[in-house]
Amino acid sequence: MNKSIKNALFDAWQYLKKHNIESYKIDSEILLSFVLRREKEYLISHDDEILNDSHMKSFYALLKKRSSNQPIAQIIGKKEFWGCDFFVNRSTLIPRPESETLIEEILKLFPNKDERLIFADFGAGTGCLGISLLNEYKNSKCFFVEKSLNAMKMIKKNAKNISQRAIFLHQSWHNIVIKQKLDFIISNPPYIPLQTNLMDDVIKFEPHGALFAKNNGLKCYQDILQIASKFLKKNGYLIFEIDKNYEFIRVPINFQVIKIESDLLSLKRVMILRIP
Ligand SMILES: C[S@@+](CC[C@H](N)C(=O)[O-])C[C@H]1O[C@@H](n2cnc3c(N)ncnc32)[C@H](O)[C@@H]1O
Repeated sequence: MNKSIKNALFDAWQYLKKHNIESYKIDSEILLSFVLRREKEYLISHDDEILNDSHMKSFYALLKKRSSNQPIAQIIGKKEFWGCDFFVNRSTLIPRPESETLIEEILKLFPNKDERLIFADFGAGTGCLGISLLNEYKNSKCFFVEKSLNAMKMIKKNAKNISQRAIFLHQSWHNIVIKQKLDFIISNPPYIPLQTNLMDDVIKFEPHGALFAKNNGLKCYQDILQIASKFLKKNGYLIFEIDKNYEFIRVPINFQVIKIESDLLSLKRVMILRIP
């Protein structure tokens, strides 16, 4: 029997709760709004509306995926970051809200939005960092460096509106050639130590190449620190996303750490280095 929005949501809550999905309420609402192609407010204002067969079928199919711990962002194919929706797939890390702290820090370093900055996003994933910055700095240009082909496809899709200011380098950062000197490099590299226990949503569904790094999570930092200076202008910046392991990053003498900044949860999240 077809159900009203109100009853379908109530059943969805019970179903996801039974599968230990803590965010069962909000997730049910997101999935039903996605199926109906409506804003969430519509669910409240039209809670007596009866769902048709096709909507019911689609809603149940999505709930089933969520019950297996697949992240909501992957199910609906997008995630909001810095005020914009980014397409995601199984090859891209889902943009995290705490990574917005990197954008905030760059806005502090370069307060003039008209500046003609040239910068690179190393390990761009969905492109969320570089694209958000290109949206802020309309005269700037970004080199997107990403070794995963499927992630690079997503970056190009996400960068559609600013593609004339984007250069896509589908390569490892070890192999790239960039002829211009950069004002800064931003990077949220893989930094989780191998064999770390992570939640099912993450370990089963997000790309391991975007999560884990050897040397107790430090390998990508060390690699980037070895090569970054050849791309940067004098006084150029290297801005890393970090976690609690940051204290073990060995900083070479050609770089100076000028700031460690915390995110909204007071966790150390950004390291800013500079070539003196
Ligand atoms: C933690 S994800 C970050 C994605 C995105 N920047 C973000 O903040 O959501 C790291 C990304 O680095 C890429 N990556 C890892 N090693 C790389 C390498 N040697 N060269 C280029 N990209 C690399 C991974 O494929 C992954 O997309």
